[in-house]
Amino acid sequence: MKRELLFGLFIAGLTAIAAGCARSPSAPTASGGDARVWNIGFSQCTLSEPWRVQMNADVKAAAERHRDRINVIFQDAQDDTPTQQAQIKQFVEQGVDLIIISPKESRPFVQPINDAVKKGVPVIVLDRDVPGANYTCFIGGDNKQIGLEAGKFIKQILNGKGNVVELAGLMTSTPAQDRHSGFVEGISGSAIKVIFNADCQWKEPKAQAEMRSALSRFENIDAVYGHNDPSAHGAYLAAKQEGKGRENTIKFVGIDGLPAEGQKYVRDGLLTATFVYPTCGPESIDTALKILDGEKVDKRIILPTRTITKETLK
Ligand code: FRU
Repeated sequence: MKRELLFGLFIAGLTAIAAGCARSPSAPTASGGDARVWNIGFSQCTLSEPWRVQMNADVKAAAERHRDRINVIFQDAQDDTPTQQAQIKQFVEQGVDLIIISPKESRPFVQPINDAVKKGVPVIVLDRDVPGANYTCFIGGDNKQIGLEAGKFIKQILNGKGNVVELAGLMTSTPAQDRHSGFVEGISGSAIKVIFNADCQWKEPKAQAEMRSALSRFENIDAVYGHNDPSAHGAYLAAKQEGKGRENTIKFVGIDGLPAEGQKYVRDGLLTATFVYPTCGPESIDTALKILDGEKVDKRIILPTRTITKETLK
């Protein structure tokens, strides 16, 4: 038993050494003349929302531009935290040179990320932050700022007074926490009341169901603040299905601002506004290449937003 354990440890040690050599940033690269393709493991928490499909497409397009230097292995965790934890572990075992992860939530990923970094694998975290993890770099939008701007926008269109329904994203993920606290700050000092708040986990059908119950409880709803465009759209559909015409009086505001989703909803008059949430795709590949080349990168790279209304779309 003891001998087997020692043998196991020996093999594990050899594997670790081999993997360590393979991802040494000083290994020869294509630019150095001696071709060396880096393997990057990319774990996406889900592909069930259009914004994530776009993120993958952006990562893929950026990686294509450097296909002589990098190979990206794409994994979809299908909205399941244990699956995504296992993917990180597996990437390390496979000996990838770098990991990019857009995690479903924060806490459960502190340990897997720390384990990867401890084994010498650089980790880039995208969009949903993992406070307390020792990752190499975080790239994302400023969700507090977006929430603040959404709050100020609603304050302005409601002339500082009215009832708001907040359809939140998954509250165990940082964008939802920040989009909420930013919003509260944005409406502060006004007579705007959040009369209904629900965790819709970023999902359109959940938001639609929650909005149905908000509509049945409240006569006067002036605006809906959806933490993403699928939620704002789900709320719009619920109001339309109610059959009282409230989809025309309530102002719906979302976040993400994809051309084929949120921007289209604004153009078609379903949403009053949406806020662009950058996918971080190109930046993630640029940063990965710098890390693999041994360059120092900023620990946090924060990308800007843009307000989309009918006026800005003109
Ligand atoms: C997609 C998504 C986006 C949202 C982001 C927050 O899964 O829900 O709609 O902006 O994640 O992390």
